[in-house]
Amino acid sequence: MAQEVLHGLGSEPKFISPKYFYDARGSALFEEITELDEYYLTRTEMSLFDAHLEDMAGRLGESVCLIEYGSGNSRKIRKLLETVSPQAYVPVDISNEHLQENARALHADFPALHVYPVCADFTQPVAVPQEVDGLTRVGFFPGSSIGNFAPSEAHRFLTGVRETVGSGGALLIGVDRKKAVSVLEDAYNDARGVTAAFNLNALAHINARLQANFELDGFRHLARYNAEEGCIQMFLESRRDQVVSIAGETVHFAANETLHTENSYKYDKAEFVELAASAGFTAEAEWSDDQQWFSIFLLRGNSTALPGAEIR
Ligand SMILES: C[S@@+](CC[C@H](N)C(=O)[O-])C[C@H]1O[C@@H](n2cnc3c(N)ncnc32)[C@H](O)[C@@H]1O
Repeated sequence: MAQEVLHGLGSEPKFISPKYFYDARGSALFEEITELDEYYLTRTEMSLFDAHLEDMAGRLGESVCLIEYGSGNSRKIRKLLETVSPQAYVPVDISNEHLQENARALHADFPALHVYPVCADFTQPVAVPQEVDGLTRVGFFPGSSIGNFAPSEAHRFLTGVRETVGSGGALLIGVDRKKAVSVLEDAYNDARGVTAAFNLNALAHINARLQANFELDGFRHLARYNAEEGCIQMFLESRRDQVVSIAGETVHFAANETLHTENSYKYDKAEFVELAASAGFTAEAEWSDDQQWFSIFLLRGNSTALPGAEIR
């Protein structure tokens, strides 16, 4: 972690991975974000699940193992578990405490379900437990988390999922769509400042894990839409000239210098279908709201994985 964080802070411009948002407080703040008026994503996605669960379950069939990438509080999967009735559930998350706690709670509520939590970084190949061999593997990646990857990384991630689920396996994935810039920017600049606290929490997390001394009031939250890249970009902007010590090294921030913390890419339908195809998936179904603000796609693993076409 020290090596990775220092590499990003030594780069020009500075960046850190969005995975550092998520310690226990970061996970709790994210839960709060999902309830905000401005943050239409979770609300819209949940309403799509409510409206189309039967259709989704019918398409997924029986003898299924659901593998959730970044399971968090496993809230969305609960709806699927009631309707799809999989034999096994493999929640994958980097935040171990949260993962084990949620796996226990889920097992208590669904005693017949085999739950195999895997603490792993899903940007790397994920080892699925042998116990699920023989079941149809269905990846679950809701919340538009795919948007946190640049298109080339998204391609790599989807290719990895395609390898994990195999031919005939599937991926149910939530994707945030391109729309009016004001709607997008409001969603990441809420009036109560919860997203700002979430962004700043990455520094508190690094302080705790790497004996660092970031002063949180020395940075301000920024989120804006980059139309050329097609993504919301979040930054922490240094309010003053300052030096921070991290894992025994020092890092200088000039006044107004930005630290890039997250990208959230938005997709047109055709762009996303093309991206999925480049990773060996066919878009079998899509469910979207009336405004086409958010889509859930069911991607099916092709019988032969395509050689990875380069996307941007
Ligand atoms: C936004 S939450 C999504 C929770 C849940 N899937 C949902 O949509 O309600 C993202 C989760 O992904 C996890 N996460 C983020 N980056 C990760 C990574 N690289 N590898 C594994 N888990 C990651 C976080 O710990 C967090 O619990």
